[in-house]
Amino acid sequence: MYIFKKKPLKYFSSLDSLKSKQSSLIGSVEVPGDKSISQRALIIGLASIGQTIIKGILDSEDVYYTLKAVQALGAKVNINKNQKILTINGVGLGNLISPKKPIYMGNSGTGTRLLIGLVAGSNATVSFYGDESLSNRPMDRVINPLKKMGASFIYSEEKKLPVTVIGARKKGITMPIKYKSPVASAQIKSAIIFAGLTARGTTQIEEPHKSRNYTEIMLKKCGVKVHSKISKKFINTVKVNGINHLKNSNFNIPSDPSSAAFIIVASLITKGSKVKVINVLYDSMRLKIFKILTKMGGKIKINKSSSNKCEIIGEYSNLKNINLNKNDVTPLIDEFPILSIAAACGKGKMIMKGLGELRYKESDRFKSISEGLQQSGVEVNVFKDNMEIIGTRKVSGGITINARNDHRIAMSFNVLNLFSEKPIKVIGNKSIMTSFPSFFSTLYTLKTWTSL
Ligand code: S3P
Repeated sequence: MYIFKKKPLKYFSSLDSLKSKQSSLIGSVEVPGDKSISQRALIIGLASIGQTIIKGILDSEDVYYTLKAVQALGAKVNINKNQKILTINGVGLGNLISPKKPIYMGNSGTGTRLLIGLVAGSNATVSFYGDESLSNRPMDRVINPLKKMGASFIYSEEKKLPVTVIGARKKGITMPIKYKSPVASAQIKSAIIFAGLTARGTTQIEEPHKSRNYTEIMLKKCGVKVHSKISKKFINTVKVNGINHLKNSNFNIPSDPSSAAFIIVASLITKGSKVKVINVLYDSMRLKIFKILTKMGGKIKINKSSSNKCEIIGEYSNLKNINLNKNDVTPLIDEFPILSIAAACGKGKMIMKGLGELRYKESDRFKSISEGLQQSGVEVNVFKDNMEIIGTRKVSGGITINARNDHRIAMSFNVLNLFSEKPIKVIGNKSIMTSFPSFFSTLYTLKTWTSL
């Protein structure tokens, strides 16, 4: 789409014709590469000297802007469009280029925060800006610790984009720090780790729960010494040692479990459906959504197909709602929009607590979910950061939802459209291009029977 194809896919689509034919979703599909790993592969490629080969990269808007950024910072990228392979020749940790122009990051919070971290430990000066949604997201969560490491920043009072980063090594050195993050966030943790690569000594980050750990795993492959430990109270402590050069590594990226979740929930709530999603990243944290859906009575099977891949099978089910507690939030951080759709179509009360972090995603997801469901005719009660969804076998619909520039909100309400009595029209489907450009075409493929 963005990296391998010149012509953009048609995005202004809907699932209306699936809905009007009351089609069951039957078949086997593959969803695109994992977004978190794709972005990290590019950034690590830039920070390594020599060749990094990436297969299975997600071809979406977010990844495209991170790729453009990595090129602006000095990486030479060869794109094999036929085989869909990227080869990156990086500049190493110390030699990032200071681009003359600010770098546009589109909607990509991960790309932006991780690159801010990498630049913070370098001798480059780089300005970043983004679209309306990204320009409203907090950057102080990375700026505050990175300042302590010696980087300087030029930004508005609100500490949001546009932000200029002046790397710690421009005038001095990168300082290793011990940082207690107030929230469990892979983006904060990764930004500090990337900056810490150029520090002399050990940088330590503590987070209240373990967030996704691909930065740690992928950097270990490149020779970085990274250690993690989880305490009895779930506190995750990560220590990373500075290094002179990253050892080259190649990355083969499995499909994104978060994208698979939209397809699986669609199959759970659409009568007569049975769907298989293949080659999905096998990672217990990211598969938590499927465990929760199973707890809700979802007929789901996960079959491991290789050391890091699995296939997930979902079948139409009568879902029953459950209670989730604060400890469930971090592993489900991207899944609340689609989980809320499942809850809306289930029986009974779904109670979800401690959802404050949802307010800082591509939209204020706490609001987008609760207001979107209420508009659709579902009873939702909110109290502080807690949400209660009263499931109903009859979601009335007949409304238009504004996705607020948020891909996961757009996809979620398109899925609810399959279930609602009257159509739900979504404004802002273009945002889906940031993570899952083939969302509509994948669901349409499922109309046709493929042997499972
Ligand atoms: C991501 C981390 C998560 C997630 C985001 C991707 C990453 O955010 O919401 O979509 O790749 O590091 P947190 O920073 O809240 O963990």
